[in-house]
Amino acid sequence: MKIVIGSDHGGFNLKEALKHYFDSKEIAYDDLGTHDESSVDYPDYGAKVGYAVLDGDYDFGIVICGTGIGISIAANKVKGIRAALVYDENTARLAKAHNHANIIALGGRTTPVDQAIKIVEAFMNEHQEARHQKRIDKIKELEG
Ligand code: RB5
Repeated sequence: MKIVIGSDHGGFNLKEALKHYFDSKEIAYDDLGTHDESSVDYPDYGAKVGYAVLDGDYDFGIVICGTGIGISIAANKVKGIRAALVYDENTARLAKAHNHANIIALGGRTTPVDQAIKIVEAFMNEHQEARHQKRIDKIKELEG
């Protein structure tokens, strides 16, 4: 299991908290920034994580901004990315099972750390259901 994670300043504190969790569980990850709370632009980090998921050897990506909204919109502009903004264990599980999400988006100002950890665990423990593949193929067709 290897994860790639990135955030803007609004997601920085939650990103750091999730890194502590990964360290405690010996889960491998790469952190693509941002590296402090200075103001940055979330599209830059949504794109970085998106391209890393496509090109790197990662199981999935995590993107975080203040709400998770902006950075999920940005990550979804990268062809091949299915970034799901999730806010509880059920949406996390369904994003993996039904939508074959390859990135989950979280809100650093809207999702408490303990909830974010439950979300990540739910996503990691779920599997992609093959019966939804034809819908994923239709999403790919939309990408052209
Ligand atoms: C940055 O202040 C904030 O707009 C950003 O983190 C995010 O919430 C946008 O969707």
